[in-house]
Amino acid sequence: MGVVEDGWENRWREFHKGVATGRFWIGPPWESASDELLAIVIDPGQAFGTGSHPTTRLCLELLDGVERGSLLDVGCGSGVLSIAAVKIGFGPASAFDFAQASVDAAIENAERNGVELHAWLGDALLDELPAADVAVANVTLPTVEAVLPRLTVDRIITSGYLVTEQPVAPGYRHEGRRELEGWAADLFVKATH
Ligand SMILES: C[S@@+](CC[C@H](N)C(=O)[O-])C[C@H]1O[C@@H](n2cnc3c(N)ncnc32)[C@H](O)[C@@H]1O
Repeated sequence: MGVVEDGWENRWREFHKGVATGRFWIGPPWESASDELLAIVIDPGQAFGTGSHPTTRLCLELLDGVERGSLLDVGCGSGVLSIAAVKIGFGPASAFDFAQASVDAAIENAERNGVELHAWLGDALLDELPAADVAVANVTLPTVEAVLPRLTVDRIITSGYLVTEQPVAPGYRHEGRRELEGWAADLFVKATH
């Protein structure tokens, strides 16, 4: 049997570093936030969403540019997107994920940031989804395309796919796109005619 180094359980922490993105600083509780930026403190635990992934950053950029209103976070992971959204004026915010570890992390992170968030266990492809003004779905292209017709929203920000891809979104108008490091995010608005 090999010798296990001291502190191996926390070694992953070295890879979870704070990141400045737009007007946000997103980082772990054990790092100090930048004074000039809006701090979002995230301990992802077992969930996806340290805030550093290009798709998360692109969603935040698009979110900051849309009219405020109620929010639905589809596949919330650590809750990073809804927590940041509430901090810039969205609400009420509802977030769900089909992984219990993500729901737990989102609840803990919302408390850590003093943000009101309703986080629940649900499957985007099976469960009834609450109506919202704005939805954000940083999942995968097939999941984005499957959830779009199931949503009752005015605007939706989608990501989780490459710059070579774009969701087919019947009933929505494509309003904008951001790209970073080979990843893409899109803004769709419900077509009214
Ligand atoms: C790429 S992570 C995004 C996490 C976070 N929203 C972010 O932007 O950093 C995708 C998340 O969607 C969740 N997910 C994937 N498919 C889902 C589905 N059908 N229903 C609910 N959650 C789903 C995964 O468990 C994962 O937490």
